[in-house]
Amino acid sequence: MAANWKMFKTRSEAEKTAQTLLSKIEGKVPADREVLIAAPFTALSSVDSVLGSQDWFHLSGENMYPAKEGAFTGEISADMLKDCGCGFCLAGHSERRHIMGESDEFVGEKVTFGLANDLSMILCVGETIEERKAGNVQQVIDTQLEKGLAGVEADIVPDRIVIAYEPVWAIGTGEVAGPEEIKEAHLFVRKKLENIFPDKFNDIKILYGGSVKPGNCAEIIALDNVDGVLVGGASLDGESFSQIVLA
Ligand code: PGA
Repeated sequence: MAANWKMFKTRSEAEKTAQTLLSKIEGKVPADREVLIAAPFTALSSVDSVLGSQDWFHLSGENMYPAKEGAFTGEISADMLKDCGCGFCLAGHSERRHIMGESDEFVGEKVTFGLANDLSMILCVGETIEERKAGNVQQVIDTQLEKGLAGVEADIVPDRIVIAYEPVWAIGTGEVAGPEEIKEAHLFVRKKLENIFPDKFNDIKILYGGSVKPGNCAEIIALDNVDGVLVGGASLDGESFSQIVLA
């Protein structure tokens, strides 16, 4: 159950949200459930200080630059994320693809580099409304997966790579993809994973993202090939995210 806080929360706000979440779910997280928060760089240590010792918790960066270190003003490295307590990083979130103009190839470089530098990676894929209307959903996801995973070894430890299917038209819009749309896309992702990781594909988690809320989460995670959710807006409130975590 993953949260993506995007560009929200100061350090004190992040700490407060993490404390609210912990107070609501401590001792109640089912053994087969993991909780992840992708937080802004400046808030990572604050979240880690509250939740870092929980065995069900993972801290994640929202972005990373694929180089060890260097003259990359404004960027953040894998080592810096790990230094703040992160075990994961997102790559290819639709806001990075569409607002920052990141290409499929660049997203793939981040996935490869993050994995090689001991981060587990969450690769986000998903079509725009124009691409869906044009009947190109599978083609778009296929290319994003192909290029995003191009540098990943076939014998990858399955826990180290997570796919998040997030239709762009459902992100932050209140519009959730219907069960059939979600099942179809997730089955397509699973089949693509089978091609790339023939021995591991069933153990790689596929998350759904796009206007997930406490009220629709249980129904979504019950669908075939949906192993969890990636939540933006509804994860910003500790109480609301706690309901999602325990859904
Ligand atoms: P949302 O965002 O839950 O606000 O739609 C999801 C995401 O961007 O990961």
